[in-house]
Amino acid sequence: MPKITNLRDVYVEQLKDLYSAEQQLIKALPKMAKAATSPVLVQGFEDHLEQTKGHANRLEQIFKKLEEKPTGKKCKAMEGLIKEGSETIEEDATEAAKDTLLIAAAQRVEHYEIAGYGSVKTFAEILGETDAVKLLEETLTEEKETDEKLTEAAESINAEANQSEEEEEEDEEKAPKAAHARR
Ligand SMILES: [Fe+2]
Ligand SMILES: [Fe+2]
Repeated sequence: MPKITNLRDVYVEQLKDLYSAEQQLIKALPKMAKAATSPVLVQGFEDHLEQTKGHANRLEQIFKKLEEKPTGKKCKAMEGLIKEGSETIEEDATEAAKDTLLIAAAQRVEHYEIAGYGSVKTFAEILGETDAVKLLEETLTEEKETDEKLTEAAESINAEANQSEEEEEEDEEKAPKAAHARR
C-alpha cells in the first residue's frame, strides 16, 4: 500500500514541509537582518523572525492535535531559496543595491509560504479541522502582510538603488550630513 493514500496523509506531508521551511527560516532571517542596511528593512526582518517562530509554534499545535510528529521532511525548495539568499548576502554590491536584492529574495520566500499555507488551509477545511484552519489562516495573513510590507519598503529602496554610485558620491559632497544620517 502506498504511504500516502488519502487527503489526511497529504495534509500531514505538506505540514511537515512547511514546518521544515519555517525552521530553516528561523536560522536564515537573522543573517538577512544583519546584511540589510535600511532600518525599515532590518526591523522588518527582525519582526518577521518573531512571527516565523510563531508560525512554527502554530504548526506544532496542529501536529499535536493530529498526534503526528512535525519532523522527518526537509523542504528542499526553502533550502534553495535560502541558498539564493546567502548568495545575495555575499554579493559585492552597494548598500542600497544589496537591500534591493534582499527584498527580492525575501519576497520569493513569502510567495512560497503563501502558496504552501493556502494549500494546507484548503485541506484543513475539507478535513473539517476547524482549529487548524484558524491557525493556518492567522499565519497566512501574516505572510501576506509581510509581502506587502516588503513591497512598500522596496518602493523607496529601489529608487535609491537606481542612483549610480557616482551620483551618490555627488549627493554626499552636496549634503554630507544627510548622507551620513542614512547609515
Ligand atoms: Fe512563516
Ligand atoms: Fe514568512
